[in-house]
Amino acid sequence: MNRVEIESVEIELLLQAITKRYGYDFHNYSKASLKRRIIGFLHKSNLEQISELIPRLLHDKGMFRSFLLSLSVTVTEMFRDPNVYVVLRERVIPFLKTFPFCKIWCAGCATGEEVYSIAILLSESGLLDKVQIYATDINDESLQKAELGIYSRTQIQEYTRNYQLTGLEGSFSDYYHASFDSVVMDASLKKNIVFANHNLVSDESFGKMQLILCRNTLIYFNSELQGRVFSLFSESLVNKGFLCLGTKEDIQFSSVSNKFRSIRQNEKLFQLR
Ligand SMILES: C[S@@+](CC[C@H](N)C(=O)[O-])C[C@H]1O[C@@H](n2cnc3c(N)ncnc32)[C@H](O)[C@@H]1O
Repeated sequence: MNRVEIESVEIELLLQAITKRYGYDFHNYSKASLKRRIIGFLHKSNLEQISELIPRLLHDKGMFRSFLLSLSVTVTEMFRDPNVYVVLRERVIPFLKTFPFCKIWCAGCATGEEVYSIAILLSESGLLDKVQIYATDINDESLQKAELGIYSRTQIQEYTRNYQLTGLEGSFSDYYHASFDSVVMDASLKKNIVFANHNLVSDESFGKMQLILCRNTLIYFNSELQGRVFSLFSESLVNKGFLCLGTKEDIQFSSVSNKFRSIRQNEKLFQLR
């Protein structure tokens, strides 16, 4: 066996160990990105072999928590890909307006920027009070940050530029309060958001949604796991409900692709037929 083959055996053993010990199953994550992250964590922990990491993770819950953190990519921003919000406003908001009450699921919400962006879009469309938003992720630390809704002023400057590109006509600064070098998102935005841990690998649906956003998360999954998640989403949407993916993600080659029609290919907006 060469070094690369040994490494892939070690990764397999590592994944088995953490599935058995902690119930987190990363087997169907894309192998290349998983390997990069495991090797990065190894260096940070001053360990040389993946096999040395296995007993450490099995016996040290704190170390497992930081391992989990380093496995997840939490890069995000408010109004990421501003055009997506233009399309949501044009195509999804009129649909939401036809219901007396709506549910939106933001899966893989990381530190909350996307959820607050959606809440702002709903607020400007006069819908915030009649929508329940479920913001979920597997990473508890990210969820805690999301719930706090505190961001740096530097980030907010970048987000302001994105907000302006969405064509929304309010004033972004009305949605947060400055406090020293940070800003806190306005409490009115959080009122109807439920933050919860939900694992797309193993957890079930929790109701029918009018809109599901799952952006820049499936890109880290292999096609088998993407298939599972797409089935979960198709079961979790109301008739004609919308699904919005990341710009590099697609439902096209999955087994449920015929259940959806593409509304906007560039912005990856799909509608259940
Ligand atoms: C790159 S962020 C995407 C954030 C946001 N949706 C966006 O597009 O800006 C990916 C998120 O997916 C989460 N994630 C990874 N695996 C997951 C899983 N199995 N179930 C739920 N969330 C997961 C990560 O913890 C991370 O917060």
